[in-house]
Amino acid sequence: MTDFDERTFRNAMGNFCTGVVIATGTQDGAPAGFAAQSFVSLSLDPPLVALCPGKNSSSWPKLRDSGSFCINILSAEQKSVCDQMARSGGDKFADLEWRSGQTGSPILAGVVGYIDCDLEAEHDAGDHTIAVGRVRDFTILDAEAEPLLFFRGAYGAFEAR
Ligand SMILES: Cc1cc2nc3c(=O)[nH]c(=O)nc-3n(C[C@H](O)[C@H](O)[C@H](O)COP(=O)(O)O)c2cc1C
Repeated sequence: MTDFDERTFRNAMGNFCTGVVIATGTQDGAPAGFAAQSFVSLSLDPPLVALCPGKNSSSWPKLRDSGSFCINILSAEQKSVCDQMARSGGDKFADLEWRSGQTGSPILAGVVGYIDCDLEAEHDAGDHTIAVGRVRDFTILDAEAEPLLFFRGAYGAFEAR
C-alpha cells in the first residue's frame, strides 16, 4: 500500500471503542502481566477467547511459556492499574492485591471479572500474534461494576441509553 501512514491508521482504529483487560500469568512463581484492549470472545463450543500480544511485549513470553493466561476485566475505577500494567519493566504488581486462579495466573482484586485460560494456539499476525485461550474457569465478580473503556486515546465509563 502506498502512502500508508501508521499514525493516521492508529487514530482511525481508535474510533472503535473497547474495554481494557490485564492479561496475567506467572513465570517461576512470579506474577507477570500487561494491559490490552485486543481481547475478544471467540467460540462458545469449545469455549475460546483471543488476545493479541505485541511482539515487543516482554510479559507475553512469560505467559506463553507457562501455557496459560488469565484475562482480568478492568472496572472504570481501575485506570491506575491499567497505567501500571501498560509500562514495560519494573515490578508491575507492586501494591496490587491478587490471588491465583485455577491455572495459577493472577486474578487482580477489584476487577469486574476474569477468564482463566489454557493457551490453545498462537498465530502469527504482523507485529502481533493472535493467542487463543481455551477457557478453564471464569467468574463475574461484580455484575454492577462499570467497565473501563478506551476510545480515541482516552479512558471513560459506560452510559446506558
Ligand atoms: C489501553 C491499552 C491497550 C493496549 N492493548 C494492547 C494489546 O492489545 N496488546 C499488546 O501487546 N499491548 C497492548 N498495550 C500495550 C501494553 O500494555 C504495553 O506495551 C505492555 O505493558 C508492555 O509491557 P511488557 O513489556 O511487560 O509486556 C495496550 C496499552 C494500553 C494502555
